[in-house]
Amino acid sequence: MAQRTEAASSSVALKDGRQVTIRNFTENDKLALSQFGQALPKNDLLYLEDDFTHPEIIARLANAAHAENWRQVIAVSPENEIAGYAAALRLPGWSNHVANIRLIVLPSYRRSGLGMHLAQAIVEASRDLGATKVTVDMLAALTAGQAIFSRLGFAVEGQLARHAIDRDGNLHDIVIMSAFVRV
Ligand SMILES: CC(C)(COP(=O)(O)OP(=O)(O)OC[C@H]1O[C@@H](n2cnc3c(N)ncnc32)[C@H](O)[C@@H]1OP(=O)(O)O)[C@@H](O)C(=O)NCCC(=O)NCCS
Repeated sequence: MAQRTEAASSSVALKDGRQVTIRNFTENDKLALSQFGQALPKNDLLYLEDDFTHPEIIARLANAAHAENWRQVIAVSPENEIAGYAAALRLPGWSNHVANIRLIVLPSYRRSGLGMHLAQAIVEASRDLGATKVTVDMLAALTAGQAIFSRLGFAVEGQLARHAIDRDGNLHDIVIMSAFVRV
């Protein structure tokens, strides 16, 4: 398993002039992550794989800050608010060269380039995990995420029909995108 390198935090200027710091998520960010979850609109919460409003999920993500097979990156405002979150999870078994990515940005920070910055940071973190293939799966209807990952060189590898069920019980198609990365 790859050695964890503590990525240096980097200050990023967004297109709208705001400044955020992109850095690794730590256990100390647990409260801020829970506030991030509370600030997400209901519509987003319906579709997210992780329920960021659930204390048990927040506790699991905080514990994963030390896990060998996880990397979590956050964008933090000068007021210490989490503006965006990305994670890479290295898969077990015969896919242990593959990292699966998640990415979400607070609505008030969208369309200012933050999603792209975080996507780049989490692909870099996947490399640090030792992954040579990176995948991301999302609802077929979520075109913004697909636009970001295509720009980063990801291609659609497949689509699964009615593969996700939202919190209202509705079924959705899933798109799986992937890219091969050099370690
Ligand atoms: C996907 C998401 C992370 C994008 O974050 P963002 O900060 O708005 O992204 P950026 O500002 O970096 O946008 C980068 C590019 O993506 C595309 N894009 C972003 N939002 C878009 C939208 N609503 N419609 C169409 N294209 C969009 C554009 O090409 C954009 O570049 P441009 O602004 O120069 O035109 C955000 O919309 C989100 O959190 N969505 C919910 C969760 C999700 O779908 N995650 C992705 C899969 S895990």
